[in-house]
Amino acid sequence: MNVQKVALVTGATSGIGQATAHRLHARGYLVYGAGRNPEALDALRARGLQARSLDVTDEDAVTRLVAEIDADHGAVDVLVNSAGIPERGVLEQKTPSEVRALFEMHVVVPLRLSQAVLPGMRTRGTGTIVDFADLTQDQVFLGDLVFEAPTGAWARGDYVLAIHNAASTARLPIVLR
Ligand SMILES: NC(=O)c1ccc[n+]([C@@H]2O[C@H](COP(=O)([O-])OP(=O)(O)OC[C@H]3O[C@@H](n4cnc5c(N)ncnc54)[C@H](OP(=O)(O)O)[C@@H]3O)[C@@H](O)[C@H]2O)c1
Repeated sequence: MNVQKVALVTGATSGIGQATAHRLHARGYLVYGAGRNPEALDALRARGLQARSLDVTDEDAVTRLVAEIDADHGAVDVLVNSAGIPERGVLEQKTPSEVRALFEMHVVVPLRLSQAVLPGMRTRGTGTIVDFADLTQDQVFLGDLVFEAPTGAWARGDYVLAIHNAASTARLPIVLR
């Protein structure tokens, strides 16, 4: 039996997430594309994707969306965490709340989304989580501390998650970056 795989893509209204959502759709996935921009969500709908308005920092909304997908399809097969704040800059020029928002978006949010989809993936015994960190994890660009610190923290989180899952019976391939 050929069961359609289900993908949840955050940041599907722009950039890498949008391109990934369309690519997965073209490859036969049932794609839930999430974001906030209503025009971009309409454009996803017009191309046959399941578009969902979602602020990824709203934990209850994340829980509700994953619960909806789990109820309708059993589990999310592929989670693509592409929502992000394209923020660069010198640390001293950022307010504490801007720095906090970057850690929220690039560490807490992907952690929360992974937490939400993992039970369904474990029950199914398979699943893929794709995160985007930054090439500069291996290099240093001066002035990018406010971006590199949170994305680096999450890249480390991914690594630990991948090792943990490789060691567990429900083996889940976690794609790093
Ligand atoms: N492009 C690069 O060179 C690069 C390099 C390193 C890492 N990355 C990472 O790769 C990912 C994608 O990058 P990109 O360049 O494609 O980004 P982008 O074009 O700026 O898109 C960012 C996406 O995040 C969504 N988003 C932001 N805040 C959100 C929120 N609170 N709730 C829901 N969605 C939210 C936006 O959707 P709405 O506007 O609809 O809310 C948008 O779809 C990001 O995590 C970025 O940090 C990118």
